[in-house]
Formats: sequence, structure tokens, C-alpha cells
Amino acid sequence: MTDQRDVPQFAVVPGAAVHQALQGDERELIDLVEQAYLLHGAGSTVNPPSYFLRFPDRPDARIIALPASVSDPVGVDGIKWISSFPANLAAGLPRASAVLILNDPRTGFPYACLEGSIVSAARTAASAAVAMRAMTGQRRTTPRRVGFVGTGLIARYIDRYLRALGWELDEIGVFDLVASSASGFAGYLRGAHPGAPIVVHRSAEELLENSDVVVFATTASAPHVGAGRWLEHNPLVLHVSLRDLAVDVIDSVVNVVDDRNHVLQANTSLHLAQQAHEGVDPAAATLYDLLTDRFTIPVDRPVVFSPFGLGVLDLVVGDHVFRVARERGEALTVDRFFFDMQRHSAPDGSGPPTES
Ligand SMILES: NC(=O)c1ccc[n+]([C@@H]2O[C@H](COP(=O)([O-])OP(=O)(O)OC[C@H]3O[C@@H](n4cnc5c(N)ncnc54)[C@H](O)[C@@H]3O)[C@@H](O)[C@H]2O)c1
Repeated sequence: MTDQRDVPQFAVVPGAAVHQALQGDERELIDLVEQAYLLHGAGSTVNPPSYFLRFPDRPDARIIALPASVSDPVGVDGIKWISSFPANLAAGLPRASAVLILNDPRTGFPYACLEGSIVSAARTAASAAVAMRAMTGQRRTTPRRVGFVGTGLIARYIDRYLRALGWELDEIGVFDLVASSASGFAGYLRGAHPGAPIVVHRSAEELLENSDVVVFATTASAPHVGAGRWLEHNPLVLHVSLRDLAVDVIDSVVNVVDDRNHVLQANTSLHLAQQAHEGVDPAAATLYDLLTDRFTIPVDRPVVFSPFGLGVLDLVVGDHVFRVARERGEALTVDRFFFDMQRHSAPDGSGPPTES
């Protein structure tokens, strides 16, 4: 929130400053995102459905608007505007790009525009870590084998935030439809986890069978993994990409979601399961239920966490990043961004004289 009510200021926070503000901050960010979930569960947020802008001539592409509001003690309104253009990868550009606008809840004035893709990736990864911390805490286990299906930017951020949980891993698995993506990510993991063997699997099922924790971070638009023996050891699954698991998997696991109203739309695996079963909500619990001990996950069933991704998380993380960047002098204030502020007199004295 801005500190000056009389003179609204507007700042731009470039990606380099966002990156810097989040360096070495993983545990603090995980705690911050957990607080955001608690505020959301307690009803202290407004988080309407995301709006998906699609294009008839570019069916793969979309831009999503995520408006939201978080009450005190955070106190921020705003919107994330995030594009997904998968064809960018072939041109050497990231698939996703975004801006995040923060508004002052006292005046409505926007006070910052942040590069949004780093905030988005960090809040997604931190929310995966919040869920994993809660689930492994309830099970009283420390995973030894983690696997990643889909090895893009989000997988890299999730690895970074899971590392902050301090697990000592015996093995890390990777699988991607694109071999160069799997090998590139394996190379990154070798540097990030010295000493832990990195195994590149031949299929998602093989990876599942050999992992205690599985992260789905693909761009699959339809389910590609069905039920089978690969779930018999009751793994914990972070289904971040939401559309990987077939209805028979959703039916056979314990489903935890971030927000029931959000995740049951846009052809997510849970949405497909709901449609297949006459509208019955397949989710057993929300993450809020786990965080507040209203629900305990079983040890003898696989558990799948499917987070739709809430705009409130972007706002909480974005406001934190803005404050850090401002303290460091890295938020670029745009002089005279808000102009022509007097209702009846033009700023340069032009226009007809005002009647006395
Ligand atoms: N739930 C949330 O809050 C949230 C937030 C951000 C991103 N996401 C999702 O995370 C996913 C990953 O994002 P990213 O930026 O890392 O994408 P990316 O394009 O950088 O990487 C995705 C990878 O998945 C691979 N892939 C696609 N289909 C596959 C399949 N069937 N099996 C194995 N690999 C497959 C691709 O080859 C690619 O390497 C996207 O679906 C995105 O929408 C979810």
C-alpha cells in the first residue's frame, strides 16, 4: 500500500529488481504464502473467477486476468495479467509473460506495476512448498525421491522452493516429452543438488513409480496419465499443471485443492471428474483445511494437490516484492504518472477560464 494519500505515486518494478528482491528469501516467502492461504480461507479476500481471453486464430494462446483483493493486515487490491503463448518456446522466449498491477485499497489508485512472471512462478512454487510442508508434516515423513514431469520454468522454481524445506534426497527423477528440455533440466538439477543422482525416465508412469513426491508442471491440455500400479506406494502429487491426470486417477486418490470454486472449471482433471460424476465435487479438502487441522491426509492413499492458482497469492507476494524493491531503491517511480488531477482546472492552464 502507498504511504502518501495526497500525492499518488506510481512505480515500475523491473524483472531484475523482482528477482533480486526474492533472492535467498524462500522460507520467508513460503510463510508469506501460507499466511495468504489462511487469510483466504478465513474469508479476508476477494478472488473472483479468472477471465480467460482466447483467440480464434491462435487456439494455443491465451491471456488470463486474475483480479483479487486482500484485506488487512496486507491491504492490497490488484490484478495479474498473464499470457501463455506456447509457440514462444521455439523462438527462444518463455511461454509465459506477465505484469502485476497493485492498487491502493484506500483510493483505488494503482501504485505499482511489477514484472509479473517471476512473482507468478515464485508464488506457485511457494504454494507447492506450503502444501508439501503440510502434507509431509501430517504424514511425519521426509521424502527421499522427488520427480518432475514437465521440466520448464515452473519446475525449476518448484525445485528451488522444495529445496528450502531441507529434504535430503537420494534421487531426483525427470520426464519431459521434449528430450532436450529433460536433459537441460537434469543439468540444472545436477548443479542444484550436488551428489543426488538425477534419473531421466522414459515415461511419466515410470517416474511416478519411482518417486515419493511427484510434480506435474507440463503444458498438457488433456489427461495423459491413468490409474495403475505406479500409484500403489501412495505418493504425494503436486498437480500444478492441473490437466495431466485421467478421471480414474482423480477417482482413486485423495484430492486436495486450493479453492473449490476455482479448480472445478476450465477442463482441469477435477472438472472432468466432476462432469463424469453428475456434478459431485471430487475434492476431499482444501489446503486451508490441512493448515488448520480440519483435515488429515491418509498414509494409505495417494494424495493429489491441485492448485488452480489464486490471484490473492500474486498480490501478497507482489506487495512484499514492491516493498523490498522500494527499500533498495529499485522501484522506479514514474514522475507525473498521474496528471490532470484537479477536476476544474487543466494542469497547464489551457481551456476556457473557470467561472467565478
Ligand atoms: N496452478 C498454478 O498456479 C500454475 C501457475 C503457473 C503455471 N502453471 C502451469 O504450470 C505449467 C508449466 O509452466 P511452465 O512455465 O514451466 O511451462 P514451460 O512451457 O516452460 O514447460 C512445460 C514443459 O512441459 C512439457 N510437456 C508438455 N506436455 C507434456 C507431457 N504430456 N508430458 C511431459 N512433459 C510435457 C513441455 O515439453 C515443456 O518442457 C503450465 O501448464 C502452467 O499453466 C500453473
